[in-house]
Amino acid sequence: MPAVEFRDIVKRYGPLTVLEHLNLRIEDGEFVVLLGPSGCGKTTLLNLLAGLLDPSGGEIRIGDRDVTHLDPKDRGLAMVFQSYALYPTKTVRGNLKFGLSARKLSRDEIDRRIAWAAKLLQIEPLLDRKPAQLSGGQRQRVAIGRALVKQVGVFLFDEPLSNLDAKLRTEMRIEIKKLHGQLRNTVVYVTHDQVEAMTMATRIAVMDQGVIQQVGTPDEIYDRPENIFVADFVGSPAMNFVDCALQAEADGLAAVDGRSGLSFGLDDYPWRRPPEPGRPVTIGFRPEHLRPPNGAEGRHLRLDLPVGHSEKSGSDVVLFLSLPQRMIAAKLDAAAAEPLRRQERASLALPLDRIAVFDTASGQRL
Ligand SMILES: Nc1ncnc2c1ncn2[C@@H]1O[C@H](COP(=O)(O)OP(=O)(O)OP(=O)(O)O)[C@@H](O)[C@H]1O
Ligand SMILES: [Mg+2]
Repeated sequence: MPAVEFRDIVKRYGPLTVLEHLNLRIEDGEFVVLLGPSGCGKTTLLNLLAGLLDPSGGEIRIGDRDVTHLDPKDRGLAMVFQSYALYPTKTVRGNLKFGLSARKLSRDEIDRRIAWAAKLLQIEPLLDRKPAQLSGGQRQRVAIGRALVKQVGVFLFDEPLSNLDAKLRTEMRIEIKKLHGQLRNTVVYVTHDQVEAMTMATRIAVMDQGVIQQVGTPDEIYDRPENIFVADFVGSPAMNFVDCALQAEADGLAAVDGRSGLSFGLDDYPWRRPPEPGRPVTIGFRPEHLRPPNGAEGRHLRLDLPVGHSEKSGSDVVLFLSLPQRMIAAKLDAAAAEPLRRQERASLALPLDRIAVFDTASGQRL
């Protein structure tokens, strides 16, 4: 039985359709991340689940209940917002307690839950402080604590880490993931940060313009993107794309880019739909899959291209190479990249089992 299910959800504001016939099942205990660019409808979907908005159509189920029109407090979930929304005049303990006041719990039970959450989140020494006396990361922990004490089955997070600096974000990411490992609640987590999605999710739902583009594990999303949007949105630097035509060459089917003369051999490509020669296709390959040609194993394409600029970040170098119509990026380790950065041309190998073929017109993977 799914813990959460969206059935054919539509959300409109006047003439504007924000979510379009959206279907998604989230199983009990999953950590599902809704990932997509700003304005794609992530918060809207989360607010529909929380009961803060009414859908224009469709049904929302939690467990075996239809909760579409149920009051938020009766849905058995707790939400952590981007702005922590702590009460400034209450202590940490007061903030944690406040979420429980409507629940008619005994004093002992309230104290027990606060002690449990404070221990789990390591905020015990902070219980008597006010929010103004806490760091950003500590405030975020209190906000999570306020959801935890409710002891519900489903937790909703809306970009909970976006106000934190990079280091704290990484720490909190690990903490939230660890917490999920201990509690095994169902989590629906909204972010536009692909690193958060890739590191935390059991499954990711990638959204664009109110439509779910792909649902899969982080590896599935990364290795087998369904369409150009997903391929381009996930991965940093972004996937390289080269527009080609399918041609029957002497040694088999190939995707050929007339301008650069590149010919991607597709003999071993695992087609999902039968290819039509002559049809425009877009070849995609990730910057990290290009490598120096020595030691390249399996069938690969040799690229010999002019070197443009390069960007070094720690142990990696991203080298930009020119095709007639665009630059492509190669991500190499610094030792391999260092000699190439100073050359006019660089020779690199692309393993052909790493490329993806998309239909240029529809963007769908072939
Ligand atoms: N009350 C409203 N009236 C009209 N349009 C709205 C309303 N609320 C949201 N929208 C529109 O719905 C779309 C989705 O908004 P939503 O807040 O769900 O995006 P999001 O994916 O959470 O984006 P972000 O990453 O920026 O938070 C946007 O185009 C937004 O302008
Ligand atoms: Mg949002």
